[in-house]
Amino acid sequence: AETGSLSIVLLGASGDLAKKKTFPALFNLYRQGFLNPDEGHIFGYARTKISDDELRNRIRGNLVPGKGASGEQLEEVSKFLQLIRYVSGSYDSEEGFQLLDKEISKHEFSKNTKEGSSRRLFYLALPPSVYPSVCKMIRNYCMNKSDLGGWTRIVVEKPFGKDLDSSEQLSAQIGELFDEQQIYRIDHYLGKELVQNLLVLRFANRFFLPLWNRDNIDNVQIVFREDFGTEGRGGYFDEYGIIRDIIQNHLLQILCLIAMEKPISLTPEHIRDEKVKVLQSVLPIEDEEVLLGQYDGYTDDPTVPDNSNTPTFATMILQIHNERWEGVPFILKAGKALNSRKAEIRIQFKTVPGDIFKCMVSDLLFSQKQGRNEIVIRLQPSEAIYMKVTVKQPGLEMSTIQSELDLSYQQRYHGVTIPEAYERLILDTIRGDQQHFVRRDELKAAWEIFTPLLHRIDNGEVKPIPYRPGSRGPEEADQLLERAGYVLTHGYSWVPPT
Ligand code: BG6
Repeated sequence: AETGSLSIVLLGASGDLAKKKTFPALFNLYRQGFLNPDEGHIFGYARTKISDDELRNRIRGNLVPGKGASGEQLEEVSKFLQLIRYVSGSYDSEEGFQLLDKEISKHEFSKNTKEGSSRRLFYLALPPSVYPSVCKMIRNYCMNKSDLGGWTRIVVEKPFGKDLDSSEQLSAQIGELFDEQQIYRIDHYLGKELVQNLLVLRFANRFFLPLWNRDNIDNVQIVFREDFGTEGRGGYFDEYGIIRDIIQNHLLQILCLIAMEKPISLTPEHIRDEKVKVLQSVLPIEDEEVLLGQYDGYTDDPTVPDNSNTPTFATMILQIHNERWEGVPFILKAGKALNSRKAEIRIQFKTVPGDIFKCMVSDLLFSQKQGRNEIVIRLQPSEAIYMKVTVKQPGLEMSTIQSELDLSYQQRYHGVTIPEAYERLILDTIRGDQQHFVRRDELKAAWEIFTPLLHRIDNGEVKPIPYRPGSRGPEEADQLLERAGYVLTHGYSWVPPT
């Protein structure tokens, strides 16, 4: 492992993301020994004028593990908080960043070592509008200056732009200041345990290899649902909508991992080369293949205009034009304010040809569709992989039911803590592993897919259908799903005619 001083600078330190995700992730890394307090410092930077202690107090509540926290745990939190310093300044202020650099330099070699390599990680938990100026300031004033080596890296959060042009512009501006190897575009879904498992599942199992294609797979569904609305972030959300917020990044990344060819190796470049090829093979999205929704009451938020056309729900079908996937619909579905919180992937296989279990006598049973094999990968909550299989109903009769081969993580890996996505990804940035980060050409290809549709929505040419909060979303979405060939397998059973 690399040694030398490690400074992690959190820009936007007083914001929501930093408080809810980034600081807790850093704390977990610290607890597990990944942030050596002899080498590491954390700096918060933001406009708000507060003291070190005020910042520490603001984030403490998100670190303490609930009411029953032991003295030891509280002690651990306090020790971690002592690693944090705060610098206030605006995002385009030379003085602010000069001061930040001074603070970093002052602490860098103040502990055991007087000199050494300097590692500086800048995490931009900020709106993209300030990325260019912040990057410029970092470039001008805050880079690693040690003669003994080290690095400077920046982590940027989505949204990376609003469409192809704005994203390319942003990429060009940042690209002038930093090499691609220094830029970590975070998509936290790539840090989720079961997303990281996708390549293993696909490429380390003989079971799946021969079946993973258009000859066997009927359709693929990637679903994200949340049971709350845009509470408190209506202003942000309204500018972006569900497609930019969830589908263009989180769900599309999952699509890539499901659809990509086997990479030459697990090196970040080989993996990302294959992902780019998938993205470039996605056909333009037709309006008939899209169903948008907006939940009732969405515009009650004072930061959302009354006539907002922003979708809070979307179902759409993507087609991948290549030898493996031609004709297989990839259904992407995401929604806020629905009846449950869940993210899952459903890969549904074609029905068995020449089905001998189909009932040929009774009209009722005849109409029943054959149970389909399905692999379900549940990312959250309760991580699980299960395969729906048809088996004989136990008992004297010869009838069939659908059952599951079930790998539920909580049961199978009882006692194993699954790391938070952010924790894992921040560790990757410290280690210099870009595998789970979005490369510039990948980002561009992702925007190319959605930009025409997004512009049609922005212009009001495609409109969302209202749906009731707490519902499954607009009913029309199910019709789209059915048209795409998805067969509901839940509760399937076949009983022979008497
Ligand atoms: C973020 C979106 O990227 O992901 C949010 O901006 C969304 O709108 C969140 O709530 C969901 O993340 P998770 O990890 O809770 O599924």
